[in-house]
Parts: sequence; C-alpha cells; structure tokens
Amino acid sequence: MGRVIVIGSQKGGVGKTTTTFNLAYCLAKMGKTVLAIDFDSQANLTTCFGVEKPQELDYTIGHLMMAQLEDEVPKSLKSYIKSRDGVDFIPASIYLSVADAKLRTEMGVEQILASILKRVKNKYDFVLIDTCPSLGNLTINALAAADEVVITVSPQLLSMMGLQDYLRTIGKIRKRINPNLQVSGILLTMCEKRTTLCSVLTKEVTECFQGQIHVFDTKIPATVKVGESIYYNMPIEQYSKRATAAVAYRNFAKEIIGYEGK
Ligand SMILES: Nc1ncnc2c1ncn2[C@@H]1O[C@H](COP(=O)(O)OP(=O)(O)OP(=O)(O)O)[C@@H](O)[C@H]1O
Ligand SMILES: [Mg+2]
Repeated sequence: MGRVIVIGSQKGGVGKTTTTFNLAYCLAKMGKTVLAIDFDSQANLTTCFGVEKPQELDYTIGHLMMAQLEDEVPKSLKSYIKSRDGVDFIPASIYLSVADAKLRTEMGVEQILASILKRVKNKYDFVLIDTCPSLGNLTINALAAADEVVITVSPQLLSMMGLQDYLRTIGKIRKRINPNLQVSGILLTMCEKRTTLCSVLTKEVTECFQGQIHVFDTKIPATVKVGESIYYNMPIEQYSKRATAAVAYRNFAKEIIGYEGK
C-alpha cells in the first residue's frame, strides 16, 4: 500500500513545491515508485517537470476532480499520468481553480481526491501531493486523502505565523474525516545557517513542538543552486549533485523512507 504524503503549509513560498519535486526524484533514485500530484492551480510543480504550457493540457488533476464531481469517472487514469526520469506525475493547470469553485457549491465533497487516489495508490510506494498555500477545499481534499503530512516551515518570522492554524485544521480533519492522518513532521526549509534570526527561530520551532510533533533532523539550506535548478526544470540532484541542498534532500528522503537520516 502506497504512502500518501501531503507537502503542506498555510504559508506561500516556503518550499512546498521544491520539496515535493526533489523528494520525488530522490525517492525514485532510491528505487521507490513515486507518483507526484500537483494540487495547486499555480501549476508550479507541473512546470518543474518541464511542462511548458500547463493551461493547454486536457488531462490534469483539475479535469480529474471535475469528472469525479460529475460522477463521470474515466475508466482508465492512464492519460492523466505523465512520467519523467522515473517519476510519475499528474499535472495541474489553472483549470484546478474551476474544480475548486465547484467544490464550494457542492456538499460532501471532502473525499473527491481520496476517491481518485484509491484507484492508484496501490501501484506506488509513495504518492506525494503538492498543495496550495491556503486552508480551502483543495487543501482539505488533499489532507482527507493523505496518510501523512509534511509541514514545510521556513524559519522566518512571518512564515511561522499561522502554523498553529494549520495544525488545528489537521486536528479537525483527523477528527471528522480522516482519522488515519499523521503529521510526519516539520521540515525546515531555506535555512540561512549564518543568520541569527534563522537559528533563533529554528531553535524555537524545535523547542515549541518537542514531544508533540517531530522536527526532521534534516534542514534544507537556502542556496541559489535551488533557484537555478528550478529555472532549468531539474531536481537539484541532477543539476548539482554536490550542492548542500542536494545532500539535504537525499538525507530527507532517507528520513522519509525510515532509515537513519544522516
Ligand atoms: N532551499 C532553497 N534555497 C533557495 N531558494 C529556495 C529554496 N527552496 C525554495 N526556494 C525558492 O523559493 C521560492 C518558493 O519556493 P516554492 O515554490 O517551493 O514554495 P511554495 O511553498 O511551493 O510556494 P507556493 O506557496 O507559492 O506554492 C522559489 O523561487 C524557489 O526556487
Ligand atoms: Mg508551490
């Protein structure tokens, strides 16, 4: 049975997409089968996978959500699943916002994504879901479909605010919709090791959640190489194998798989 992991945060720009993309590649390189789902209408993850014009795609997660909402589920999901360098992915486009609007007008729609995933998750070791920075219907659908959530936090003051709201939402989802949902941990991203604020906030997060929520040993350093690799639509592993962030994402993948992180 595949592990369905949401990469989430209520904040924008804290490395959710970068983490989903790089984790997917690292896990695949370690011999795991991976499906990455772009669940954000910004379609950034889809672009990372090298799709130039997501808006022109006819087979995206938005189309799949709409079909499921209309009870017109396609017999095969094959056309929706693309593949690059050993990683399968379902792209998104702006059309996901149409599905989002539709979710708002219908009832009992929290499990739409979960119903879709039921059909594919057994075929993979890992299903990773990149989410948008909000606590709306799409995020609820993602959390309802997941076994685990990795919360990305960038140790800057504004990025940490709202973390409690996100945890409260996870608590409600666990109680009302998906009792199996676990927080696998907080992943600190874009860590500027040299800045005092960064180390103060890192310490604060670790102490604040100690005993309650796991904080991954691996911290993803801030490095221009990450931005460069994204620009070239490459995982950091391929772009610059020795970059500190490449090492970190490999270690993070090991932590996720469950053996020693370092
Ligand atoms: N470790 C890092 N070092 C330097 N830059 C990074 C790092 N991780 C991500 N970035 C850059 O930060 C920006 C935001 O990252 P990303 O798109 O992954 O965040 P996000 O949480 O998915 O954002 P959104 O909420 O808009 O979906 C991108 O330009 C990305 O290239
Ligand atoms: Mg993103």
